[in-house]
Parts: sequence; structure tokens; C-alpha cells
Amino acid sequence: MAVFSTLLTLAPQALTFLFFLLIVAFLAYCLYVKHIHMKYDHIPGPPRDSFLLGQSPTFSRILKNGGNVHEKFLEWAEEYGPVCRINALHYVLVSVSCPEATKVILMSSKYSKDTFSYKRLANLFGQRLLGNGLVTARDHEQWYKQRRIIDPAFSSLYLRGLMGTFNERAEKLMDKLAELADSKTEANMLHLVNCVTLDVITKVAFGVDLDLLRNTSPLPKAIETCLKGMVTHVRDIFFEFNPKNRSYINEVREACRLLRTTGAQWIHERKIAIENGDEVPRDILTQILKTANQEKSMTEEDEQFMLDNLVTFFIAGQETTANQLAFCIMELGRHPDILEKAKKEVDNVIGMKHEISYDDLGKLVYLSQVLKETLRMYPTAPGTSRHIAEDMVIDGIHIPGGFIALFSFYVSGRLERFFKDPLRFDPDRFHPDAPKPYYCYYPFSLGPRSCLGKNFAQMEAKVVMAKLLQRFDFTLVPGQTFDILDAGTLRPKSGVLCTLNHRDYKNK
Ligand code: HEM
Repeated sequence: MAVFSTLLTLAPQALTFLFFLLIVAFLAYCLYVKHIHMKYDHIPGPPRDSFLLGQSPTFSRILKNGGNVHEKFLEWAEEYGPVCRINALHYVLVSVSCPEATKVILMSSKYSKDTFSYKRLANLFGQRLLGNGLVTARDHEQWYKQRRIIDPAFSSLYLRGLMGTFNERAEKLMDKLAELADSKTEANMLHLVNCVTLDVITKVAFGVDLDLLRNTSPLPKAIETCLKGMVTHVRDIFFEFNPKNRSYINEVREACRLLRTTGAQWIHERKIAIENGDEVPRDILTQILKTANQEKSMTEEDEQFMLDNLVTFFIAGQETTANQLAFCIMELGRHPDILEKAKKEVDNVIGMKHEISYDDLGKLVYLSQVLKETLRMYPTAPGTSRHIAEDMVIDGIHIPGGFIALFSFYVSGRLERFFKDPLRFDPDRFHPDAPKPYYCYYPFSLGPRSCLGKNFAQMEAKVVMAKLLQRFDFTLVPGQTFDILDAGTLRPKSGVLCTLNHRDYKNK
């Protein structure tokens, strides 16, 4: 009792002291921030605000308010040039749109992914999500070990074998579209292609049949919640300290747990099948199982590590392709001449047949151009970043080490100095005889950390688009916006609403 009353009498003094300590710590932090920022002040970029932490004001506002961050980067790249400084707390980001520096940095394994963003993607609000999987691993050795094991599941030989699944799942979409055409119901194309790409990745990667165009599942909603949570966690670092956000944070954690427990269940089922001597596909799941140390008994960390990659494929292998398809449909709807040309090519190459072969894909040259142009204007995974520890000279500007180099594929795809008339959708930029863009078009990133699923995604996208063009005439529902939603990945805000009609072959 005596101790308690002594504490009570001391409490006001202790609190004052604590408060004083906090103020000192904050001021020390401000001085540290100022010191860092001053080292980079010679680099062109938006002005810092005059408040203690000296951030780039528009940047922090736009991050919080959920605008298209990449549009802002583009404005700044146009105003300040190929090297543009952006201040954010004690970090200095340097947005790079210089082809030579892009080549040097991204093609090398020397520069690791930046700690700030990728650590925050690895764990959402304290709940492990992507962990140390392929996208978020920062240590080169740890990443390389996984990539070497998973690579065979993306060899061209293996991908050829996936044509059956691509065809089969795209056919299910065509059945659904036929129903919508018959009932004259508007189609939300983004939602529909999302179902297909999620169906494809779960079937191809994990041998699981979801059939989302017919069945319901909590997984799409959980992925959506995780994606939203990822953006919030990376872009608003004070979010988790606001008690008002508790219930949302719990929802995000719950969604992460659902993805991981579902993944754990699939891993368990596959292990049992292997133990029973059943024949199992040599799919991505089989390769993921190999990333754990097979010689010794599996530790909890090995299990978690496998789950990291499983969830990584769930997230990386689906939404980006769906968004590309939706943007592509949107642009074709806006450009009837391009749509007609693409349809003609599809008619010539595949005619009326339903089973598209791997060789057919190679002949759909114009459709490839259309898909490439879609990713120039709408790079659905819009950027990457690297931590640069050493001093560097970019475009004649000396940049002291310790900064984050930011590469926005949106910016490079829309700069007039790289692409003439950049806001015009023109697939002929990617004509086989046209000059190749020099380190300014790389929607799948570049170098060792470039997208593992690039060929997979483009094969899948071509099969879906070819079937759509073969079977349907579509028009965009008037009045919808063509704006982009920056949700970490880029999406068409409207969902791309279309009315569909069966193609009339008899009168052609
Ligand atoms: C249009 C579709 C896609 C686009 C635009 C895209 C884009 C990208 C980009 C830009 C990166 C680098 C990310 C970073 O630096 O942080 C990446 C990495 C990755 N992507 Fe994709 N991706 C697509 C589809 C896919 C698909 C379908 C899969 C799997 C089936 C996939 C699997 C991966 C993996 C595993 C990585 C990490 C690679 C590594 O670091 O080793 N992606 N993707």
C-alpha cells in the first residue's frame, strides 16, 4: 500500500519526465531528418514543406488521400527531369526515368529491394503475408535459392502443357458471357476476368478447382482485402496507431490468415498425396514443397516459408493479369479500328476452332502488340524500388548513397521523351519492325528480379482475348469513366462495363 501511494505521488513527476523525453526524442529525430534531407537538397524535386519533418507536401497528402501516386510522379518527372527527389520522413526517394541508370540498377543483383516497402508487404499490421517469398525476399542468396527451384515450373516446355487449362478456363468465361449476351445483361468485365485468372492460378499452380464463375468462395474477397491492406500499410505509416482503424486492421489480419490457412491446407493435402505414392502434377506447388529443406524434418519456419511463396503466387499471379485484360478490353472498346484489326487477325489465325494451340499464340502478332501497348499505358504492377547504399551519378547528378531509387513503369511509359504522343493508344509502336524501346518499357520489371510469370501471364491473356474476339461483339456502356484506380496495382475504376452480342458470322 505504501509503495502504491509513493508511486502515486511520483506519477506526475514521472509523466512530466516522460513527456520531456518524448519531446527531446522528437526534436532529435527532426534534426536527423533535416541532416539527411540537406544531403540531397541539390537534386531537383518538389519543394519540402517548412514543417519540422520537411516532407514533400503533395506527396504525403496524395499518399493519404488515395490518388494515383504514379500520375504525380509523372508530373514531377516532366517538371524536374530524369532524376527527381521526393522527401518522405527520413527517407529520400529518387524517382529515376533515365534509361542508362535503369539498366545499371535493375539489371544488377547488387542492389536489393528497398527495406521499407518490401518489409511492410511481407507482414501486414504484424500478420505475416508474403514473408520471405519470391517477391519480398531482399537477401540475394535467400531469393536465388527459391527462384532456382521454382523456375522449372515456368519453362517454355512446362508452359506449353498449360494450354489445355488456359483454354478450358477461358471457355467457362465464354459460357458466362454467352449467358449475359442472351439475357442482354451488362457485363462487369474486370470482375469476370478476375474470376478466370484466379481460377487459372489455383488450378495450374496448386491443382485446386475453384470455378469462381459458378461457385462462391471467400478467397477473392480475402485477396482484395489483403491488396487494400498492403497499400494502406505501405503508404500510410501512422494508420495502425489510430485506434479508429482497429476493426479494419483486424479485418486485414483475418484475410491474411485465411489465405495462409487455405494454403497450409493445400500443402498438407499435397504432402499426404505424395506420402501415399499418388501421382501428383509437377506444378508450382510441387516446386514450392521443394523450397523447404527436404533432408531434415520440416521446421515451423520451413512451413511458413512455403506458405510465403504459395500466398505470393496467389497475389502476384492473378490480379495483374486480370487488370491488363480489363484495360485491354476498355481500349479496344474505345478504338473500333484497332478492335476490327485484332478481330480480323483472330479470324485468320484460329477461325472457328475452340482449342487454341501454343503455335497459334505465336501467330497472333497484332494481338501481342495490343497487349503490350495496354501495359505501356496501364502497367498493372506499376513500379519497383531498390536501396542504393553507395554514391551514384545519374544523368550528371551526384546522389549520395543511402537513398531509395524508385522506378515507375507508368512514368516511363507516358513520357513524351520516350513515346511520341504518349496518351494515344497505338499498338503499332510495338510492330515487329519498329525500333525497340531502350530501357523505358519494362512492365514486368528488368533483370534478376523481373517477373517470373511474364510468359504465363501473356499466354493466358492472349487465350482469353482471342476467344473473346472470336465469339463476341462488345461495346462499352456509355457514361462510364476511363479513370485509373491506383490500388497499389492499377485497375480500371469503372470495372469496364460492356454489353455483348454473339458475333454474326452468317452475314460476314
Ligand atoms: C500482366 C501480368 C503481370 C505483370 C504486369 C507482372 C509484373 C511483375 C513485376 C513488375 C514484378 C516485379 C515486382 C517488384 O519488383 O517488386 C513481378 C514479379 C513477380 N511476378 Fe509478376 N506480373 C504479372 C503476372 C504474373 C503471373 C501470372 C505470375 C505467376 C504465375 C507472376 C509471378 C511473379 C513472381 C513470382 C514475381 C517475383 C519474381 C522474383 O523476384 O523472383 N506474375 N511481376
